[in-house]
Amino acid sequence: MPTETVYGLAANALDAEAVSRIFTVKGRPDDNPLIVHVDGLMMARQTGVMNECAQALAERFWPGPLTLVVKSLRTLPLIVTAGLDTVGIRMPDCDTALSLISAAGVPLAALSANKSGSPSPTTAAHVAKDFGDALFVIDGGACSVGLESTVIDLTADVPVILRPGVVTQQMIEECIGSVENASAEFVSNAAPASPGMKYRHYAPLAMVTVVEGQCAVSVAEAIKYLYDKDLKKGEKPLVMALRENKRYYGRRDIVITGSSGDPGEAAKLYALLRAADEQQYSRIYFEAVPKEGIGYAVMNRVYKAASYNIVKV
Ligand code: TXA
Ligand code: MG
Repeated sequence: MPTETVYGLAANALDAEAVSRIFTVKGRPDDNPLIVHVDGLMMARQTGVMNECAQALAERFWPGPLTLVVKSLRTLPLIVTAGLDTVGIRMPDCDTALSLISAAGVPLAALSANKSGSPSPTTAAHVAKDFGDALFVIDGGACSVGLESTVIDLTADVPVILRPGVVTQQMIEECIGSVENASAEFVSNAAPASPGMKYRHYAPLAMVTVVEGQCAVSVAEAIKYLYDKDLKKGEKPLVMALRENKRYYGRRDIVITGSSGDPGEAAKLYALLRAADEQQYSRIYFEAVPKEGIGYAVMNRVYKAASYNIVKV
């Protein structure tokens, strides 16, 4: 099913057998809890304990890309919650998804409809690319957000952001006061301590390198150097840069990730990575975007797509 964030493989959240089939299709080990998608507050209240913070956040941000982890209420199948006594709930901002949930009359557990490891799908064609004819895809067009939801755990004394997204820490704090951010390490400890800690996630086939620094000209110089070296080696490199820096790259192949004035644009990251694969680029040089607001979530995903392959200038 489409959602505003990414396409999901969805099943009746109350039916363990149905849910186990989406894990089989996805090829993911079933040790990760799933997000349960609801069509409104009423269904949310039948699924989890919507405490004061959950209530406030739902009123402010639903329907929308924010997943609330709360104490689970229903006896949800173990396979949905991975045996936890909590459940992640969200109401997607997508009419097609909401109609589907309402028609089903039950909450739908879903995980992103990509093969494990590849970038999350943001069009029906992306899903078809990963799974062929094996799936029935409801085509809701391109996802309007393009990056997975923010996940926040509301069961601790102080709420904790588990995964950043376009609903930012600041937006959440304006609603419920200060929260902690468990995802901070992804951004600040960018270089892994050992090669063994490297892993590819959300990754395209092309090798991604993030280039970051204070000065846009120096970043561009570094990228141009690496790009031109690749060309000589017979690679097919691509620059992903901010609109205001495009002029530095001359006639090199480039796609625009966004602009510092419109950070939401950069959330379309997965669509850009998949498009680069379609065009058979072998190397991608990604200009880091400022890690502020939505840029924080974007860089969290880009670092993973790059396996923490980062050049600092
Ligand atoms: O935007 C999204 O969230 C998309 C669309 C389909 O809704 N879904 C998605 O699902 O990204 P998935 O399975 O890729 O990510 C679910 C995230 C995982 O990081 C998982 O650990 C967390 O939500 N999560 C779910 N339930 C949880 C729980 N009870 N406690 C802690 N984390 C939970
Ligand atoms: Mg996912």
